[in-house]
Amino acid sequence: EKGGYPDFMLKEIHEQPRVIRDTLAGRLVNGRLEIDELGMSPEELDLIDRVYVIACGTSYHAGLVAKELIEGWARIPTEVEAASEFRYRNPIITPTTLVVAVSQSGETADTLAAIRDARVKGARVFGITNVLGSPVARESDGVIYTKANKEIAVASTKSFLGQIVSLTLLALLLAQAKGKLKMNQIRLLFRELADTAEQVEWILAHADEVNEAARACAEARSALFVGRGMGAAIAREGALKLKEISYLHAEAYPAGEMKHGPIALIDEGFPVIVVATKSPVYDKTVSNMQESKARGATIIAIATEGDEDIKAHADHVIYIPKVRDAFSAITASVPLQLLARTIAVMRGCDVDQPRNLAKSVTVE
Ligand code: M6R
Repeated sequence: EKGGYPDFMLKEIHEQPRVIRDTLAGRLVNGRLEIDELGMSPEELDLIDRVYVIACGTSYHAGLVAKELIEGWARIPTEVEAASEFRYRNPIITPTTLVVAVSQSGETADTLAAIRDARVKGARVFGITNVLGSPVARESDGVIYTKANKEIAVASTKSFLGQIVSLTLLALLLAQAKGKLKMNQIRLLFRELADTAEQVEWILAHADEVNEAARACAEARSALFVGRGMGAAIAREGALKLKEISYLHAEAYPAGEMKHGPIALIDEGFPVIVVATKSPVYDKTVSNMQESKARGATIIAIATEGDEDIKAHADHVIYIPKVRDAFSAITASVPLQLLARTIAVMRGCDVDQPRNLAKSVTVE
């Protein structure tokens, strides 16, 4: 049932191109984006003036990506909150607030409680889940299903990409309803989004450097993941994945925060994993890499194919195809998943069933 792969996690990582394609299928109708399951007219969508994304763990990280996209394209202020915090706060909710609850399993206790609370307070709630008819699907006003199919490994991979793609569609839909993007821009973005399926295939076929990079981390006691913008969100997911399955302590920071504390950790051979893809903040990220390198860090860079200059600042470079920054979370996540898994295997860990963790967290 592992389809020839040594573990479910690797199998699921390799399913991601299909997940992207299936999640996008049928969404562009006569050149317009459609998500009928949301049950909201373009006029109602246009009224939304605040978005909360609520989720836990990896799904929360998909929310961080969504914030960049919803604010960037639709220009709606967006907060991302851990469901376990949201439910015990007194968030500002009005009838024009949209709450987006993201949950692979659709049964995470804190996320469900947050949905109930938001609805009582009058918000419109969209669920994004992987499980048909799950409590999150049933209790939300509308739902988008990520088409990951059953995910078995405890560490989320393919459902994470499905969530990002679904949230990207939602961001485009909001931008469309608000008239913030022209129809031809939306069509172009949709095409580029669809192209990420092939780009992920390419990454999976060219992942040799991941093994070398993993070897440089396998004996470490701790690792830092850094990036800026989209890269900062992905760094957080990279660190979570690594600590979950390899039991290696990992932390993520926005790269610009390094000199405000974490750089004190760096000594000879300390692994720093940098999301350094071409983006408007690329140069800034490179200078943060140099600062870590000067203090002896072993640098692993996720970089854009064709960027030869980066080799001067990194010990290992894992290349990924060039994509628009908005879609870099989809592509850059994949080498980080592979890296976490390879390190875990090298450390002799059970990657599918990490200690102390369960696939769905139905108690608080
Ligand atoms: O089913 P959910 O998406 O609501 O689960 C949320 C988290 O428990 C989950 O993402 C967890 O962090 C995973 N183990 C991540 O790999």
